[in-house]
Amino acid sequence: MVKLIGFKKVNTAVFISGAGSNLRSLIKFSLLKKSPIKINFIVSSKIKAKGLEYAKLHKIKKKTYNFKNISFSEKVLLKELEISKINLICLAGFMIILSKNFIKKFNGKILNIHPSLLPKYKGLNTHERVINNREKFSGCTVHYVNSQLDAGKIIMQKKVKVSKKENPQSLKEKILKQEHQIYPKAISKALTSL
Ligand code: GRF
Repeated sequence: MVKLIGFKKVNTAVFISGAGSNLRSLIKFSLLKKSPIKINFIVSSKIKAKGLEYAKLHKIKKKTYNFKNISFSEKVLLKELEISKINLICLAGFMIILSKNFIKKFNGKILNIHPSLLPKYKGLNTHERVINNREKFSGCTVHYVNSQLDAGKIIMQKKVKVSKKENPQSLKEKILKQEHQIYPKAISKALTSL
């Protein structure tokens, strides 16, 4: 049995740019009594990101940065992360590439979810490329973020079958369902080794 005496949830920030379905699943996970994380801060790179609605719904602090001047936005953001005593950052559909300097400051404490079986299909438009290449399988990966795109150490992966009738949208939906399952599990796994 897990001993909960002295158990303190890890202050976590989730960074988004869009729909926020992973954010929604992470909030649900964080609200479980035995969850190792507490989501204290939601960061968006887009003012109209649908995912921001979850921040409102759950009364979680949120801020939007446009990242046009990346070093300025990161400087302000780092201050906010310090104020909120953030110890873990989960990227969830966040479309900005963070600087080496930022990543260094949170070394080993930034996780990302990517909709492919890394190291295959790094970058954008993964589902289109998977289908065009007639892959039999695809999936999703949770990994640590390092200074190279989608290349950090893998924490967890889930494989799905690509059916003959698959299109990018159906594959996206199929994989998203798995993403919502593995991101919480991967966080728990990562936190045991932090
Ligand atoms: C997910 O497929 C994630 O793997 C990728 O961007 C998408 C975000 O979806 N990085 P959502 O905003 O969490 O719904």
